[in-house]
Amino acid sequence: MKPLIVYYSHGGNNELLAYRLQKEFNSDIFEVEPAGKRTGFSIFLDIVLGRTPRIKPCPLTLSAYDMLIFVAPIWSGKIASPLRSFLTQYRDQITSYAFMSLCGGGMSAQVEKVRKELTTTVGRAPIAVRELWVLELPKSHLKANPPKISGYRVTPEDINYFVPDIHAFVEEVTADVAVSD
Ligand SMILES: Cc1cc2nc3c(=O)[nH]c(=O)nc-3n(C[C@H](O)[C@H](O)[C@H](O)COP(=O)(O)O)c2cc1C
Repeated sequence: MKPLIVYYSHGGNNELLAYRLQKEFNSDIFEVEPAGKRTGFSIFLDIVLGRTPRIKPCPLTLSAYDMLIFVAPIWSGKIASPLRSFLTQYRDQITSYAFMSLCGGGMSAQVEKVRKELTTTVGRAPIAVRELWVLELPKSHLKANPPKISGYRVTPEDINYFVPDIHAFVEEVTADVAVSD
C-alpha cells in the first residue's frame, strides 16, 4: 500500500496526529495551507458563510497513491474549511480515502454527519472515519470545564493515550486495501 497523509491544522493538534499517522503508515505527508493569513475571524466567517478558502496548490500527483488519509479539525460539526477546499478542488483525483480528526468531541452523531459531508464533497464514500476526542483525555480540568476543550493544545503524551484508536484505524484502512488488491 502506498498511502499519503493530507492534513490541515490550525492550532497544531491535527498536525501532531498527522505525523503520528505518517509514522504508522510509513507514508508521505502533505500539509494543506491556506493561501492567505488565517485569523479567528476568518474561521468564524468560513463557518457562518460556509466558505471554502483559497489554498496553495498541491504539487503531488495524487493518483500515484492508492490511499489518501485526510486529517483535520472539526469546526461547528463540519470538516475544517481549508481541507474542504482541498477535497473540492482535487475530488476527481481522490479514489480510496479515509478521514481522522482530533476534535473537541462530545456529540455522538457528529461522526455520521462528517461521513455524509465527506461523501457529498468527494462524490464517493470514505473507507473509514474516526474521531479522537480531546474531551476523552484523562485530564480532569478538561472534563470539568468544557469551554476549555476548543483551545486545548494536545501534547505528544496526549497522543499516546489515543494509540489504541490510531491502531484500530490503521488496521481498518490496511484491511480494506488488502481486500481490494
Ligand atoms: C471555531 C471552532 C469550532 C469548533 N467546533 C467543533 C465541533 O463542532 N466539534 C468538535 O468536536 N470540535 C470542535 N472544535 C474543536 C477543534 O476541533 C479542536 O480544538 C481541534 O483539536 C483543533 O485542531 P487543530 O489544533 O489541529 O487546529 C472547534 C474549534 C474551534 C476553534
